Amino acid sequence: MEQIKLYVNQHKDRFIHELIDLLKIPSISADSAYKQDVLNTAEAFKQSLLKAGCDHVEICETPGYPIVYGEKIINPDLPTVLVYGHYDVQPADPIELWESGPFEPVIKNTKIHPDGAIFARGACDDKGQVYMHVKALEYMTQNNALPCNIKFMIEGEEEVGSKSLGWFVERNQEKLANDVILISDTGMISREQPSITTGLRGLSYVEVEVTGPNRDLHSGLYGGAVANPINVLAKMIASLHDENNHITIPGFYDKVEEMSAVDRAEMAKAPFSLDAYKEALDLNDIYGEKGYVTNERTSIRPTLDVNGIWGGYTGEGAKTVIASKAYAKISMRLVPNQDWQEITALFKTHFESIAPSGVKVLVKPHHGGQGYVTPTTSIGYQAAKLALKDTFGIDPIPVRSGGSIPIVALFEKELKSKSILIGFGLNSDAIHSPNEHFGVFNFLKGIETIPLFFKYFVELNKK
Ligand code: BES
Ligand code: MN
Ligand code: MN
Repeated sequence: MEQIKLYVNQHKDRFIHELIDLLKIPSISADSAYKQDVLNTAEAFKQSLLKAGCDHVEICETPGYPIVYGEKIINPDLPTVLVYGHYDVQPADPIELWESGPFEPVIKNTKIHPDGAIFARGACDDKGQVYMHVKALEYMTQNNALPCNIKFMIEGEEEVGSKSLGWFVERNQEKLANDVILISDTGMISREQPSITTGLRGLSYVEVEVTGPNRDLHSGLYGGAVANPINVLAKMIASLHDENNHITIPGFYDKVEEMSAVDRAEMAKAPFSLDAYKEALDLNDIYGEKGYVTNERTSIRPTLDVNGIWGGYTGEGAKTVIASKAYAKISMRLVPNQDWQEITALFKTHFESIAPSGVKVLVKPHHGGQGYVTPTTSIGYQAAKLALKDTFGIDPIPVRSGGSIPIVALFEKELKSKSILIGFGLNSDAIHSPNEHFGVFNFLKGIETIPLFFKYFVELNKK
């Protein structure tokens, strides 16, 4: 315990600077203009794994971006921990809202991070969190403290749906065989209150297109006499929620697992301040599904949100026009037992059925994935709990997160192992937003905690 603290203290400046170098590469998987940068990032992670002590590292080709695979097998009879993460990042836009360049990392102090935070796209999601594992391996190999086998699988398409990883996992079951999967790609409650993520929501992501007249029209000559696809789309979208903010798609809630009053009471014990929540977002009130509190709305309840909407004239000044087409991108966050393909089909049928005559509607499914829940009774969970208790001084709280990592459900299906989600980010770290950052304290705490997970996982497996 003390040894790892000393090691981290002695090497922390180097750790931070190595991470900063990785953050300088714009590995945006969604935009093909950054293809070479994504590939360079894979190579950089490969080199970091070799330096940290992996015996074997390879860049595994896939139909899409490659997967960085690394391993250090010390004894086939010992357990194997598979570490998963992603080296790709979200696009940086809107770029003008960044206070410093998204790929020019800087360290700044904030109210929540008085010891500094590294500002850059990917700092928290997920390069910084993956790098904690790389540095934890360095510590364990340098100090003869690796108690079992370790494998790494770092992908480059998480932010665009992990298609190639699904392909890779199905074809490499033996190579990826493990006793537990360890993932840091989520968050924790606060610096003072550690937590372990016990659930992720599923996702169905669709794009809709509404077509009215065959060309853009003068809004004076034709307005009022033809369906305006933007007006119609707005109305259709508005009808997807009722006055209680329930989703109106028939069958949408059929498979939703209702949480028991006991479990909801347990959830309510997690510290939460509504005032602080509103203040942080500069909101005068919250909003959401009737009958549920904020923590429930963002974890155990499914949601539907428009992520983008466009059409018509959005340039400077005014142009009087009725557009031919209107578009929206819509995501539905799902909870366990809801099947994402089934929900996508329900959405499509319903959305087509509510279109008024006078327009044509097209629903294009993008990607999706199943939700996930993991028990708190597993050896992996218990090991994570002991490790976090050692480094933070108090017991972590189990939390179901609102985010999605669709590949986790596939891991369980294909590799038959549980994933343990110990994230060190905070909700306020602005992942996917301008000014994403990762606390230096959180980064270093992660490096300190991970070797303890390995230690406890091996000890508990012996019992
Ligand atoms: N790391 C996030 C997911 C996350 C963040 C889960 C915080 C829990 C807490 C991941 O990189 C992500 O952004 N996932 C996407 C889904 C994916 C299919 C694009 C998401 O949740 O929107
Ligand atoms: Mn992520
Ligand atoms: Mn992400």
